[in-house]
Amino acid sequence: MQTPETNQKPKRFAGILLHLHPKYINEEALSFTRTFGLGGMAALLIVIQFITGIMLRFYYEPFPQKAYDSILILQNNVLFGQLIRNIHHWCGVFLVLITFLHLLRVFFTGGFQSSRKINWLIGLILFVFVIASNFTGYLLPWDQLAYWAVTVGTSLLNYIPFIGGAVRKVLIGGDEVNANTLLIFFNFHTAVLPILILLLMAYHFWRVRKAGGIMLPNSTEPKALVPTYPDLVYREFIIALALIAVVLVFSVFLNAPLLSKANPDFSLNPTKAPWYFAGIQELLMHFHPFVAAFLIPFAIVFSLAALPFINLKEAPSGIWFHSDKAKQAAKYSAIAASVITPVLVIINEYLPDFETLLPWLNSFVSNGIIPLVFLLALLWYCYKFISKKFRLTFIEVIQTIFVFITVAFIILTLIGIFFRGVDMELTFPWNV
Ligand code: HEM
Ligand code: HEM
Repeated sequence: MQTPETNQKPKRFAGILLHLHPKYINEEALSFTRTFGLGGMAALLIVIQFITGIMLRFYYEPFPQKAYDSILILQNNVLFGQLIRNIHHWCGVFLVLITFLHLLRVFFTGGFQSSRKINWLIGLILFVFVIASNFTGYLLPWDQLAYWAVTVGTSLLNYIPFIGGAVRKVLIGGDEVNANTLLIFFNFHTAVLPILILLLMAYHFWRVRKAGGIMLPNSTEPKALVPTYPDLVYREFIIALALIAVVLVFSVFLNAPLLSKANPDFSLNPTKAPWYFAGIQELLMHFHPFVAAFLIPFAIVFSLAALPFINLKEAPSGIWFHSDKAKQAAKYSAIAASVITPVLVIINEYLPDFETLLPWLNSFVSNGIIPLVFLLALLWYCYKFISKKFRLTFIEVIQTIFVFITVAFIILTLIGIFFRGVDMELTFPWNV
């Protein structure tokens, strides 16, 4: 490997960035489509959250009598108060989306293997912290939306067997969302979680460097090295500017929501969980709570955590998907999930379900076990059909199933957000 001669001396700012990157990097790592810059974007959004969050803290008061009014003062009487709040709101939304896309990118390029195993697990924990930051922040405005979304969101915990109820009680500081909850969430949001995220993010970056940068295709060709400054730093700068521009456009034109002040005696109809839990809330409409809010999410998280420890000899390294037939199978799988999911939701909404058809059975069996077996059988059939058609290897099978579950979950989330109206009945988005 050769080190290119360069007389360019990094400027001071670039010098700081060189603590994150090595001085020279492999030319192949520069290609935008290898990572889409998603990890870097997530990091930038977190920095923006920290800056705007600290600004919001100057005015925000975490007490039920004052929280809502402090947000009104911030929006109406503080110069750029509304804009700062909007930026914090939109960055929170984008952070969930971009971290999720980064997870998908790492998965489909096989970036979770060998020396990157631990970093995949660290990433998963970071993802949980990002969701937790959003969820704890959601309550702080103390309006009707916040109060009832957090009431529904935390009630999902009740479905975790044995410990769920007790965990919920500790987390919200009582039996229902109250002044204790606001203070607990505020402390988690502005102190505990930011510190944990900072520490873990630093460790995540360090491990990327320790693994020799991002995962690249195994190639026998000697690879050219290029100086990080300017080749990579300039590219990162452009992506950062583009992201900031998008955040600003959203923040200037779309205000963060604020309904009337929280009223524990008057619930909203429909009462919806925060948007990133809408998929689980939608599952609850179709399955017994134990299956919807515990078994399925737990199985997904467990499978993701176990992934790097499965022996996958042929997994892709640095390229998207393992082969062209894997890409084809993924397309079929995505199409199948986009058709099957809404059809099943509609059937379950308008035709009698197993609980109605088999009233003598325990609801855990009729509404939990039977639909679950039915769903698994359907998945099994799709898998058999696709793997026979494409003759897939083991990793390609895993990728195909992953695509199916991801697309199905995205569709459930969209249905929950846009197609559930009064009494959580199915309706069109303009009636929600
Ligand atoms: C990963 C980092 C963070 C995320 C994802 C996040 C997310 C959120 C969200 C979604 C809200 C509700 C905004 C809305 O009304 O829609 C919020 C509110 C708030 N956050 Fe954060 N936040 C983060 C970090 C911080 C930090 C570090 C601080 C301060 C040290 C902070 C302070 C606040 C305050 C004071 C509010 C209430 C003001 C409001 O609702 O507009 N946040 N946050
Ligand atoms: C706060 C959220 C996160 C931040 C700021 C972050 C940041 C980064 C950055 C900057 C990289 C370098 C390459 C790239 O940009 O893709 C990276 C790589 C990586 N990330 Fe993350 N990440 C986050 C969440 C996650 C999640 C949710 C996962 C997966 C569960 C994950 C797993 C990994 C792995 C395994 C690598 C190495 C991939 C490779 O070598 O190709 N990260 N991350």
